[in-house]
Amino acid sequence: MRDRCDLSRIFRFPAADICGYAIEPMKGYCSVRRTTLVLTAFVFLAHAASASATNPAAVPPMGWNSWNHFAGKVDDADVRAAADAMVSSGMKAAGYVYVNIDDTWEGQRDAQGFIHPNSKFPDMKALADYVHSKGLKLGIYSSPGPRTCAGYPGSYGHEQQDAQTYADWGIDYLKYDLCSFDGIMRKQAPNNLEQQNQLMIAAYRRMHDALAATGRPIVFSLCQYGRDDVWKWGASVGGNLWRTTGDINDTYQRMADIGFNQLGRAEYAGPGHWNDPDMLEVGNGGMTYDEYKTHMSLWAILAAPLLAGNDLSQMSAQTLSILTNRDVIAIDQDPLGEQGSRAFAVGMTEIWTRPLVHGALAVGLFNRDQGAHSITLDLHAIGFPPHATLRDLWAHQDVSAANGRYTAIVPPHGVVMLKVTR
Ligand code: GLA
Repeated sequence: MRDRCDLSRIFRFPAADICGYAIEPMKGYCSVRRTTLVLTAFVFLAHAASASATNPAAVPPMGWNSWNHFAGKVDDADVRAAADAMVSSGMKAAGYVYVNIDDTWEGQRDAQGFIHPNSKFPDMKALADYVHSKGLKLGIYSSPGPRTCAGYPGSYGHEQQDAQTYADWGIDYLKYDLCSFDGIMRKQAPNNLEQQNQLMIAAYRRMHDALAATGRPIVFSLCQYGRDDVWKWGASVGGNLWRTTGDINDTYQRMADIGFNQLGRAEYAGPGHWNDPDMLEVGNGGMTYDEYKTHMSLWAILAAPLLAGNDLSQMSAQTLSILTNRDVIAIDQDPLGEQGSRAFAVGMTEIWTRPLVHGALAVGLFNRDQGAHSITLDLHAIGFPPHATLRDLWAHQDVSAANGRYTAIVPPHGVVMLKVTR
């Protein structure tokens, strides 16, 4: 049985970081040497624990979203199957929590203006109960405009009603997609981009306030494709994540265009508020094994939300192994919450790094070319001594540097992902 003194289990920090040598396991209890320090640590940790209880996006949200695979066809059975598979496949155990319904669930509003799901979703509350019964959370989708991107009713003029309806159903996550609100902006502020952007910001704030008023913690996901540098104001309107780009698709070209172009935004991400380069395409069939590993690795270095976008009920073992690579997930979920960036680029090869807790560093050696390339990591150049420890996070083994340099042959469109510790 685990020792009661193992605070690392409770707070997800190594015990040594919490109280130095102040706490030692002793007959199942703690031997306190420096009481004041320990009490301070407890106050700090109680605060941190309550912060993470009230902040459901303290690390980038992980889950699944219906759009990339099911698009407009998604129905209640697909969502239940996704929840079932998330548990039975081991994805839940690897950290995936949100089961998110994207566009096309919306039905009509009743005489009082309350939204109802369409016939594909006979009982949203029952669906939420089902998802919750699996220890998972349910997400939903709407727009600040009168219509969603797929032409279904949006929340325009019904923000409070919708937020309350979501809370009553037991919704835990809302993706709020600009779509037709763009038309409202242009109509209300013709030829005035600045004013249009102010209307957009106000619309996102309005829904955040409506969600907050329900008292239910609901992750708020902004989707307006990066317009008006959303990373600069997304957190101020209560966004927990914001899309930085237009839509991803299941090609290496599009995934790489998005992923490798996230520079300059890292400073805006952090616990509670994340840049979102869009949902994963892993397992949808349009990329090779190496390309999907690049996708997963790059998203982890970017501290991106990990929302699987494939059919979880029909996953190959290879797809599952990518989505549940715990070493790579741990990089994505690193509690420091610092987004990585490109450190070096030579031709079609790029080295990206992400600072981690305890002074460790995640390193991605990316080959964007169509032929294999050898890529060398110089430990000195990333601030590490020649004897630093290197772990290959896809091979799941330690590797060694020779004279402070580590060279890997990286396959076409592939990656070698390392964790470097002192
Ligand atoms: C937009 C979003 C997508 C998806 C669709 C649904 O295109 O960017 O992620 O939600 O709308 O209609």
